[in-house]
Amino acid sequence: MSNSSVLITPDNQQTVLQLDKINKVFNEGTPLANHVLHDVSLQVSRGELVALVGTSGSGKSTLLNVMGLLDLYSSGELRIQGHLTQGLSEQQRTQLRSESIGFVFQFHHLINAFSTIDNVLMPLMLRYGKPNQEQTEYAQYLLNEVGLANYAHIATNRLSGGQQQRVAIARALVSRPALILADEPTGNLDTQTADEVFDLFERFNVEHQCAIVIVTHDPRLSARCPRTIRLTDGRIVYDGASANLPNAFTKTV
Ligand SMILES: Nc1ncnc2c1ncn2[C@@H]1O[C@H](COP(=O)(O)OP(=O)(O)OP(=O)(O)O)[C@@H](O)[C@H]1O
Ligand SMILES: [Mg+2]
Repeated sequence: MSNSSVLITPDNQQTVLQLDKINKVFNEGTPLANHVLHDVSLQVSRGELVALVGTSGSGKSTLLNVMGLLDLYSSGELRIQGHLTQGLSEQQRTQLRSESIGFVFQFHHLINAFSTIDNVLMPLMLRYGKPNQEQTEYAQYLLNEVGLANYAHIATNRLSGGQQQRVAIARALVSRPALILADEPTGNLDTQTADEVFDLFERFNVEHQCAIVIVTHDPRLSARCPRTIRLTDGRIVYDGASANLPNAFTKTV
């Protein structure tokens, strides 16, 4: 997916993510085979904010990892910004991932010894080497946006948990991805800090029009996403407006 091979056209730019009958079997063909995702079909468009919910073990992280090309699926079709992902080499997967997707995890995986701004710049450094001035200015802009303007040159291990998660969000945004995938990004934060971090997702979703799929066990936060997808035993049992999610479902989220 060098510039010459980019397949993104105005038509398919609106659909950021498309899954058709995705199945995932861990340890396929062995006695330990575990069929975790069953015929999962969904589509996410530019600018959507989607909560992915379900009880522990229902397959949320597995699905997110498949969507993010961090893990292979067993059958079905997955398209990212119109690119069919089947048959891509590891290098092509890495390139598509780094061009299109930003990740935020519960445990932010920042590099402690590095400064905050270097952590934000990390995805670009891995891809292009030493960052240029425009990239550095954009990283500083994102740090301003997440309320850490004065922390750029401080080692990240001196920041609070909420501040570190805000650095991780800036890092996910630095490559201007069309899609952000977040796996319980507020899972280890107190309620107020979780709300503040979620505010950032909401704001970036509106301002940058990036699609966001966010796994959360917090019904207060999933209710703030216009759309909720609920998994039970690796199957989609609800996909629609969060406001219409039946109560019986929210109770067990
Ligand atoms: N690498 C793996 N090998 C085999 N089975 C796996 C692997 N990763 C996950 N699983 C299984 O897949 C199922 C779904 O796990 P997953 O982590 O996706 O659930 P989850 O919905 O994210 O749960 P939680 O809310 O606890 O994070 C579980 O039964 C789990 O044991
Ligand atoms: Mg999980």
